Amino acid sequence: MKKQLFITRKLPSHIIEPLHTYYNIVEWPEEEVVMPREKLLAAVKDCEALWVTLADQVDAELLAYAPNLKIVSTLSVGFNNIDMNALRGRGIIATNTPDVLTDTTADLVFALLLATARRIPEAERYLREGKWQGWYPLQLVGKDVGGATIGIIGLGRIGQAVAKRALGFDMKVLYHNRNRKLAEEERYGFHYRALEDLLQESDFVVVMTPYSKETEGLIGERELALMQEDAVLINVARGGIVNETALYDALKNNKLWAAGLDVFEQEPVALQHPLLTLPNVVALPHIGSASLQTRTAMMNLNVQALLAYAQGETILNRVDR
Ligand code: DGY
Repeated sequence: MKKQLFITRKLPSHIIEPLHTYYNIVEWPEEEVVMPREKLLAAVKDCEALWVTLADQVDAELLAYAPNLKIVSTLSVGFNNIDMNALRGRGIIATNTPDVLTDTTADLVFALLLATARRIPEAERYLREGKWQGWYPLQLVGKDVGGATIGIIGLGRIGQAVAKRALGFDMKVLYHNRNRKLAEEERYGFHYRALEDLLQESDFVVVMTPYSKETEGLIGERELALMQEDAVLINVARGGIVNETALYDALKNNKLWAAGLDVFEQEPVALQHPLLTLPNVVALPHIGSASLQTRTAMMNLNVQALLAYAQGETILNRVDR
């Protein structure tokens, strides 16, 4: 008998096609719109498998509506949208999509780093708004990236990919991580720093840690005050790691040069958000992994996990242990 699978987003039919052999599939019919919570709670009633995105919260409340649930697969490497304790209590499997998005996300870090340092969006607006009357020596001057010091908070897979790109720009690479990465220090010349030292020494601080209770608000008023006044903060991890009010104050009061943000505490970020009023904020709609190849590879990892579950085979990319 086929198992029940619910997918919280309309996905390309050729991607989900292999699942039809094992699952009766019900999908939320919208590709772009997040499923309203009450509809999601009603939809999981009979499902044994659930395929979610990072916009869907899988928590104890949802589990109470899903008595048959056995596996949750999230279309993201971050799985802070899933309450792992609640899942463990019920022995429910969870899987994510690591590795395949590492390079794409690291590329976006560099896109933000260059965009903020060289004021690219601001310069483009300047041109399109008809402000370009001629060349002048200090017109839209920015900061050099080459030879600068980058401080990476979280030297996991994506953090390391960022660090390797930084070497190509002759940057000095500092990192802070729960565990020292001695092999990477020796092989690539990365330097470990305590968080406070990293913040003080870096021209560019890149937030790459997973989001958890431990990292919530990790970068607040005190941490931002430690940064140099012409430093740049980049966050492509999760919005809640950086205190947005403190960041706004620091940028507004010229205590920081700029910020490049792909993530926000509330997504989608409200257009009235104070950070969006600042010219030195480059804001993106959470597109870290958004290349066609990478999103396809991520979806294929979800499919593999769901197929393995249905066939009683070893399930890769489990995050529940
Ligand atoms: C992830 O996979 O966690 C990313 O944030 C999505 O791009």
